[in-house]
Order: sequence, then structure tokens, then C-alpha cells
Amino acid sequence: MTKILHLLLASVPFAFAHHTPLKARQISKSLLSDDSEVVAASWYPSWLGTKVPPESLSWDKYTSVTFAFALTTSDPGAVSIDSDGLVLLPKFVAQAKSHNVNALITIGGWTGSQFFSSNVATAANRTIFVKTLTQLVTKYQLDGLDFEWEYPNQSGIGCNVMSPSDSANFLLFLQELRLDPVGSKLIISAAAGITPFTGSDGKPMSDVSAFADSLDWISLMVYDVWGSWSDVVGPNAPLADSCAAANLQQGSAESAVAAWTAAKFPIDKLVLGVAAYGHSFSVSKNIAVVNSQLAPYPTFVKSPQTPGEGETADTKTTDSCGVTSGPTGVFSFEGLVTAGYLTSTGSPAFNMLSRFDNCSQTPYVYNPSTSVEISYDDAKSFAAKGSFIKEKALKGFAMWHAAGDYKDILLDSIIAAIGIVEC
Ligand SMILES: *[C@@H]1O[C@H](CO)[C@@H](O)[C@H](O)[C@H]1NC(C)=O
Ligand SMILES: *[C@@H]1O[C@H](CO)[C@@H](O)[C@H](O)[C@H]1NC(C)=O
Ligand SMILES: *[C@@H]1O[C@H](CO)[C@@H](O)[C@H](O)[C@H]1NC(C)=O
Repeated sequence: MTKILHLLLASVPFAFAHHTPLKARQISKSLLSDDSEVVAASWYPSWLGTKVPPESLSWDKYTSVTFAFALTTSDPGAVSIDSDGLVLLPKFVAQAKSHNVNALITIGGWTGSQFFSSNVATAANRTIFVKTLTQLVTKYQLDGLDFEWEYPNQSGIGCNVMSPSDSANFLLFLQELRLDPVGSKLIISAAAGITPFTGSDGKPMSDVSAFADSLDWISLMVYDVWGSWSDVVGPNAPLADSCAAANLQQGSAESAVAAWTAAKFPIDKLVLGVAAYGHSFSVSKNIAVVNSQLAPYPTFVKSPQTPGEGETADTKTTDSCGVTSGPTGVFSFEGLVTAGYLTSTGSPAFNMLSRFDNCSQTPYVYNPSTSVEISYDDAKSFAAKGSFIKEKALKGFAMWHAAGDYKDILLDSIIAAIGIVEC
């Protein structure tokens, strides 16, 4: 049975529901290249491949899954995938193909964007980089490339090569990739921040329409809006923020879609990035709880950061810039269940306090015995995001990441709210 996911919207041509079965891969490709076709996607975290092998993914609920990551290197002639990732990648692609799902690979990411700038800086480097990526795609029989440059003309993790010409060079690179015989047939997407790519003046570009000619879609990474670096506890992935006090408006799905469309990016090529995880904060009980309820935007104890999933107070990691830091405090949705914050149905456990913020449309859970508060997403917040995607007629959703959900509680919720059916 051929799998086709489509949107239950009047604008979707009737033919989609009764698509003549073609070869599996042709179908997903022809549908995905049509602007009215929905994207139901997630990123696959290859470093969790032992815990979550490719065959365990809920393939039938996705149109595409993106393998994360291939890192940029100082040489445009090479990208870097670690040895475990190289073993996993062919298995990942085989699983995707057997489920008629598009297999993409994402280039860059927070730790892997260091050399985008130099790799696209000159015509000669762009040509080499195009060749590197088309060879990668051909070797592993991938269906597409996803570019997660965090971020053009910004230092990102802290040590990225950067130039005022980054966004312009990125566009030239994408255009060259599209002219390549291999590149012309690929799905090409990008993951971007809540404001348009930074232009040569250091400000978000006012016209990013040319990117839409080369990209199938852009996934807006509307998460990590608040976290350990913030002044107070706020929503990791707010749907809206215009309903919050002015100083608390730090970006949201609503503001991101507004910013990108104001910069002339077509709304039907925008995919909403959604978070199957949350950030934890240490909040004293007298600040967290007011009148027996969780107070909005409480201050928190900055240091030490409370440990997240799989972390202890002593956890230390050294990043690609050589900077060593402690726990991140991040929990996947599944990790919140395992750690006892949530029950197996994804609701706050009986010994927790909780609050659903009706502006950001996201939940908080607080453990009064450990003074840990978590800002995260649940079935209700994913449903709100799905309704937003449907109402705005965005292209779909992309979940960070495929191993974060628990029993597909989040995935099923957003799929139902968008109105995606399999037929
Ligand atoms: C082009 O790539 C080479 C590595 O092959 C690098 O040394 C050089 O700096 C790059 N050019 C620019 C202008 O960044
Ligand atoms: C981007 O480039 C401009 C122009 O050189 C510069 O003023 C700006 O600071 C750069 N952006 C960042 C985040 O540094
Ligand atoms: C949130 O709830 C409060 C109290 O019920 C209400 O006054 C307010 O209008 C709601 N805001 C939004 C954005 O729904």
C-alpha cells in the first residue's frame, strides 16, 4: 500500500486523495514538490542511534525524516559524520525507503556550522561544496539536503567563521546546487531562526524571496526562545507572545511567521519547527508558588544549572569551540515521563504543580520537593501548534527530535490538529 499523507483542506487538489500509485519514491517526491502538499517531518538524532535504532521510528507518520548531522569542515571538499553515524546512515536510508519516506541529511547544526561561511565564500569554494554534497547524497541514496546554518553572519556557538556576505553567498550556493543535475532533483530545505537571515548590514534581511526559488521549505526553529541563558523562566517554544508583557516578547511561532512573510518568504513554504523537549530551571519554592499556583515568569537560580536528562551535577561537555560547560538541563518529553515529572499519558504527575500558559500555549511543571521547574511542550501545546499550522496554511511541521516523543503522544496530537490523514 502506497503511503500518501495529505491535508484535509479544500485547497488540496482532489487528485491527491486518489493518487494513481506510482513507484513509491516518485510519489513522495512529486507530492513534496507541490506547494500544497504537507510536510510531516522530524530530525533523527544519530547519536541516539543505539537507543533509538532507525527501525523503531514511526515512519508511517512522516513524509520525511532528516538525519542529523553532517558537520561542516574547514575544507569545502568534505563534511564530517562521526563513525557511528556512518554506520547508521545506510540503515536509516534503507528504513526510510522501505516506508516510502524521504530521507534527508542535515548539514550544520549548532555544533556544525563553523565553516559554512568559508565553504560558500568564493565561487571556487561553492563549486567544491556543491560537489561534496551531491556526492554524499548519491553515495547514500538520499532524497534531499537540509541546511541548518546557525547562523549566517553570526558567531553562533561562538567560533563560527562569519562574514557580512554570508546570506548572499548562501543564496549563490543554493542557486548553484539547484543547477547541478543531482541537486536539481533533490528536496532542499533549510532550518532557520525566528527572524530572517542576517543581511550585510547585520540586520534581518527585508527580502528573502529569492531563497524560496531554491528551497522546498524553511523550518522555523521556534524553540530555545527561553532557557538557562534567560533572566527568568519562560516558554521554550511559544506559539504566541504578543499577548505577553512587552519585555517578555522574545519571539514565537506567530512572530516568526510574521517576520518571514513580511520579508516576502511564501507562507506555504514555511514549516513550523516544534520541540519534543523542555528546559529545566531551579526555582525556589517561595518564588515558584504564589497562592498555591505556579507564578508566571519566576526568577531562577542561575548556577548551578539543574541537571537534565542523562546528566548529573558533574556533567561536563566541551563544545566544538573548545569551551567546556556543565549540564544543559534539557529533558526530552520522554525523559520527563521517565524522570517522573509526567505520567505515562503525558500529564503532570500527582506530586507536581503545573500551569498551562494561555499566551504561549505551553505548559510548565514544577517539582516542589526538588524546586525544579520545567518549560516544555505537551499534547495540548502540540495541538495548538497544529491548529495554527492549519489556520495559517503553513507547509507542515518538523519535530526536534524523532527520539524525544513518548508513545507518539506529541506526534499524534499535532497530526490530528493539522488534519493530516494517511490514504
Ligand atoms: C575556501 O576554502 C579554503 C579551503 O579549501 C579556505 O582555506 C579558504 O579560506 C576559503 N575561502 C574563503 C574566502 O573563505
Ligand atoms: C554582520 O555583518 C555586519 C557588517 O560587517 C556587522 O556590522 C555585524 O556585526 C555582523 N553581524 C554580527 C552578528 O556580528
Ligand atoms: C488567558 O486567560 C485569562 C484568564 O482566564 C484571560 O483573561 C485572557 O484573556 C487569556 N488570554 C489569552 C491570550 O487567551
